Amino acid sequence: LKKREIISCVRYKCGLLGTIQDVLRQRPGWVEVKDDGEWDFNWCDVGWLRENFDHSYLEEHVRINHFRNHYELTRKNFMVKNLKRYRKNLEREIGRMEASKCDFFPCTFTLPSEYHLFVEEFKRYPGSTWIMKPVAKSQGKGIFLFRKLKDIIDWKKVMGIITKSNLFVPLGRKFDLRVYVLVTSYIPLKAWLYRDGFARFSSTRFSLSSINDKYMHLTNVAVQKTAPDYDPQKGCKWQMQQLRRYLTAKHGREMVETLFKEMDNIFVRSLQSVQKVIINDKHCFELYGYDILLDQNLKPWLIEVNASPSYTPSSQEDYEMKCRLLEDTLNVVDMEGRLTGKEKRVGGYDLMWNDGPVYREDVNLETFGSSCFTANTHLGCVNDREKQLRRLMKPFPGQKRM
Ligand SMILES: Nc1ncnc2c1ncn2[C@@H]1O[C@H](COP(=O)(O)OP(=O)(O)O)[C@@H](O)[C@H]1O
Ligand SMILES: [Mg+2]
Repeated sequence: LKKREIISCVRYKCGLLGTIQDVLRQRPGWVEVKDDGEWDFNWCDVGWLRENFDHSYLEEHVRINHFRNHYELTRKNFMVKNLKRYRKNLEREIGRMEASKCDFFPCTFTLPSEYHLFVEEFKRYPGSTWIMKPVAKSQGKGIFLFRKLKDIIDWKKVMGIITKSNLFVPLGRKFDLRVYVLVTSYIPLKAWLYRDGFARFSSTRFSLSSINDKYMHLTNVAVQKTAPDYDPQKGCKWQMQQLRRYLTAKHGREMVETLFKEMDNIFVRSLQSVQKVIINDKHCFELYGYDILLDQNLKPWLIEVNASPSYTPSSQEDYEMKCRLLEDTLNVVDMEGRLTGKEKRVGGYDLMWNDGPVYREDVNLETFGSSCFTANTHLGCVNDREKQLRRLMKPFPGQKRM
């Protein structure tokens, strides 16, 4: 197997069904490996990783879609622990101003250990709405809102977190954002931001009086799909471009640019908070699905980071977006060896962080001066990926290294 140069295909293993399967199958030169066959590329679920990663010997060229201890960022309680520690370190080493740039996650307590701290905070802010979440569940399962201590008493011994509810309902319905960030290395940190993403709306008009209505308060598609009045034709999503246009029309360009800059800050700092904790491994990459909530001042809040964001499509448009996202993920991972490694853009991905901030090159005269230091991110902007890819890639198979 030293003779990688003469192997002209990528042998892949895939532990998931649906969109990712479709994308892998359609990729020229890629062949699926079943069972215990040898593979070059593995899109596995986190269960497979837990059981197999430690016993696998991975050759140099092999790639896999999770880092070994991804849960440091993607389990709700660990994320909060890491963010709090990171903020404290910044305060000690640089100062309070710098630490305040981490104030983007809601006030959160871990159960069972911080129950008493929670009770103190609860008493300090009577009338607030709180959210209880079990740590190891997803898709809105087990989550509930509460305002009275007696509603939480039975839960104080479970592994969970309690977080203060943030509220902003600009369209009469609650919504949150799903954004995709790809990390190809932790040391040095190299992270890419995808241009597409979406907003998920609840199907029920918002009111503060009914905190028990999950269709009103949880925006997970998995929850909304089961609502009695869910309309699969209409769905409950807006593409990120549509949301950016709407917000720009309503609040002006400057507000919206600040919002997107603050979101960049969330992505980069949350990754930095686990940079020294995640076991860096050149075989690993990870495509994270960020959940972001906006408040009435258009300030973004980090709700959670998903290691296995759903690729289940809710409509044809959604399916096409997820295919683009996954194809471009494979383009960045570059099993085919077609890239130089110096690219700042690959399809719909823009390089956001490369051991430091990445800036745009296209300085135009009008904004000269400021735009030299404009971040190289384009969330919610046009995704003309095909044109860009045509320019970037030599026709397949490139087979430079294969
Ligand atoms: N702090 C919060 N304020 C308001 N709504 C929240 C908050 N945290 C979660 N939610 C709502 O609950 C949903 C599910 O929460 P999340 O933490 O993403 O858990 P899950 O893993 O089940 O998706 C979110 O998409 C959001 O609609
Ligand atoms: Mg979620």
